[in-house]
Amino acid sequence: MFEQLEAATPDAILGLTEAYKNDPNPEKINLSVGVYKDACGATPVLATVKEAEARLLQSEKTKTYLPMAGSAEFGDRVQSLLFGADHELISSRRVVTAQTPGGTGALRVGGDFLHTLFPGSTLWLSQPTWPNHPGIFSAAGVPIQTYPYFDVATNALAFDAMIDQLNTIPAGDIDLFHGCCHNPTGVDPTPAQWEQITEVVCQRKLVPLVDFAYQGFGDGVEQDATGLRILSRQVREMLICNSFSKNFSLYNERIGSLTLVAGSAEEAQTVMGHIKLRIRTNYSNPPAHGGSIVAAILADSKLRAQWHKEVEVMRDRICSMRELFVRTLTTRGVQQDFSFIANQRGMFSFSGLNPSQVAKLREDYSIYIVGSGRVNVAGMTEANIDRLCKAIATVLD
Ligand SMILES: Cc1ncc(COP(=O)(O)O)c(C=O)c1O
Repeated sequence: MFEQLEAATPDAILGLTEAYKNDPNPEKINLSVGVYKDACGATPVLATVKEAEARLLQSEKTKTYLPMAGSAEFGDRVQSLLFGADHELISSRRVVTAQTPGGTGALRVGGDFLHTLFPGSTLWLSQPTWPNHPGIFSAAGVPIQTYPYFDVATNALAFDAMIDQLNTIPAGDIDLFHGCCHNPTGVDPTPAQWEQITEVVCQRKLVPLVDFAYQGFGDGVEQDATGLRILSRQVREMLICNSFSKNFSLYNERIGSLTLVAGSAEEAQTVMGHIKLRIRTNYSNPPAHGGSIVAAILADSKLRAQWHKEVEVMRDRICSMRELFVRTLTTRGVQQDFSFIANQRGMFSFSGLNPSQVAKLREDYSIYIVGSGRVNVAGMTEANIDRLCKAIATVLD
């Protein structure tokens, strides 16, 4: 059977990482992959994670299976992080949370749940979106459509076009929103725009699915939950898929969660029963280590405060690289206005570089950027910024 197979199309972003690894140029720069890098270009383990792991090593008594939905303690901590402690949704038990293998696991379990129980519902994705979204939901059998999101001419949110499209979506369809730090554009709705989005979602009886992979990388751990909290105040039902890969730097531990808001405590339990079935036939139960670390940090007020500081350091570095990038491009004589990059949030921005400029940067300068022109700002450092901007100035000429 296998000899008839044609080669699979490699993943565009991970393929670039391979090419970067094999590039012998010592001055190569990787702005393609979605991983935070510090000023030295490294992705270190957070000090709070090290401390939590040391404690776990002492206290861990068993490696037996977790329940299908993971640790209850972890679920409680996640809910407080998403909605704020003592939120009415939590005290009225309208929220349930399943620990999942990464944010990707949460999206896939959510997709399986939607496909199995609501086969008539279409999922609407922003155009553009994280390239894995269509793949995950198609693999789960969920029909997909897109709504406009980004205005290339102004490098800003195409808000009116987005609202116009949302206003045509049939009741019972699902809308996926990025909670903050939109990947790949770096453009998020303002709080006032979230209010308007919520109004349309409620009027048209749509179900929001918030993908929340970068909490803390935008304006702050609490501030970044603004959109999600505005939605959750008014909608009856919603899904939230969050990831701890970036904000806890736990990439290879595969830790995230799927949270669902239902109309009542009873409905929430029914929903969780179905979620467990989807998990059981998928991976049975989640890996424990990443969730134990996150729960241990969030449960300890001192560690939690220290974690907030560590996230702040990552966020501040990204913001300062955005500003330095814009300044250095100007110093290098680039006429084109790139000031929008300083106002965007999170690790990613659409640079506006076209595919041939991106190819030239790779071939002539060993600078790796995704074909869409999306750059990972966290890949920039004080050491590589000048070389980067000089090369961009040349390909823009
Ligand atoms: C928008 C978005 N959602 C989800 C994920 C998945 O994160 P994880 O690595 O935890 O599966 C990512 C990761 O890059 C992402 O950018």
